[in-house]
Amino acid sequence: MQAGWHSLLRRGGRILRDSAVLMWTSASIGTTYVRAKQMAFFAAPALSGKLLKRNNYTSPSVTPDLNRPRTELASVSQGHNTLKVRWRDGESDEFPYVWLRDNCQCPACFLRSASSRLLRVADLAMDVRPREVQVSKDGYFLQVVWENGHESTYEADWLNERAFNTRQQSVYNNTYRLRPELWDSNMSQRIPRASFDELMEDDAALLKLLECMEVLGFTVVSGARREEGELQRLSERASHLVPSNYGTTFIVKDKNDASNVAYTSHGLDLHCDLVCLHYKPCVQLLHCITQFSGDGGDSILADSHRVAVQMRELYPQKFRFLTDVLVNFRDVATDEGFQFDIIARRPMISVRPDGEIKTVNMSTFGRDSHFGVSPEEAVSWYDAYLTFCDLLYRPENHVTFKLEAGEILIMDNLRVLHGRTAYKDTAEGERRLEGGFWDWDMMRSRRRGLQKKLAGSS
Ligand code: OGA
Ligand code: ZN
Ligand code: ZN
Repeated sequence: MQAGWHSLLRRGGRILRDSAVLMWTSASIGTTYVRAKQMAFFAAPALSGKLLKRNNYTSPSVTPDLNRPRTELASVSQGHNTLKVRWRDGESDEFPYVWLRDNCQCPACFLRSASSRLLRVADLAMDVRPREVQVSKDGYFLQVVWENGHESTYEADWLNERAFNTRQQSVYNNTYRLRPELWDSNMSQRIPRASFDELMEDDAALLKLLECMEVLGFTVVSGARREEGELQRLSERASHLVPSNYGTTFIVKDKNDASNVAYTSHGLDLHCDLVCLHYKPCVQLLHCITQFSGDGGDSILADSHRVAVQMRELYPQKFRFLTDVLVNFRDVATDEGFQFDIIARRPMISVRPDGEIKTVNMSTFGRDSHFGVSPEEAVSWYDAYLTFCDLLYRPENHVTFKLEAGEILIMDNLRVLHGRTAYKDTAEGERRLEGGFWDWDMMRSRRRGLQKKLAGSS
């Protein structure tokens, strides 16, 4: 399996390196923007010509409709547990009384500067009921007087955005997390690319990078200086660097007494980094400062979520083994004087409650030899694991290319597995990369902030 994979890489890498700048075309992603004035969420997919020209890939950027008419209420009526609301456009929704009371927006119940609830749980009761409800003449506001005399006013727009219906919930879901698009080897025809300088200067370019990371899970950034420190610069703009046992950033090259297999010239199986950490880094960056000029040192990427979905369909019982059996991942070494012995125990595949794949924990060199199962279970686990690897290493499931000096590969470490072909470096250590990690929470926060900023400024 390995030998075939390596020869494939040597051939495939060259083809890819020579291919022209590729484009990410993914117009199917619904992106949400927040209306600056009224904080109204809405979806409005449309492409900006200016953005298309300035970047090498297209994005689901939107033109916000700041002139969208305000939502108007037509009438309200009191049900048993809920307030029934009819909107001017004829649609209707129901809002639980307990939810309405919980979300009173008055200054005693809500701290606007922190966008946070002040109301204490002791002041919230299941049997809370309105004494009076009324819609303002213009239809823009709902007023509720509660049985204890407390008064709440809700703006119609605000209420409508929070309606308990699938349309509004899908808008919020998109704000929470962009929907991933799983990919296969065809991705080699559209490797997402971005320009370092544009990312540093242009908010729209940075937003597209962040969106692309959520949707496709990787990007190759070109045009960084061929020196250390570029990750720091990019990170200050996009997110922040998350330190690990290898420091805030680390140099990947062939080292004596290597503290990590990556710090040798050996080939690396497809893996994600630092599976030994319970807080496994979310996103990995590898900045190629100098590349090995001979054959080898190529990168291979695979969308592990796609392979996991295939595995679930083809081999459901083996799939369950990989989601249920706990595996020990361990990292024991001394790196630049820092001694560590880190263990995390987790299944190889984690699934979200809704069935979506959460992450694949895979690292040939980071998996411990201690295995807390019976010998029979171990045999079954290996059978499931090797079946997964067979799928993973099918040519249709990965993409190969060789990073060039000045390029930064950014990968979702929870989703995109990466590997490397062996190379034979010179004594001076010709091949040199700087690595670091980002955090999804901060990246998504930045994406939401940029969406609001760009929606407000266009
Ligand atoms: C790493 C790694 C790949 C490479 O440092 O985690 O996988 O191309 N490096 O050197
Ligand atoms: Zn209140
Ligand atoms: Zn790695």
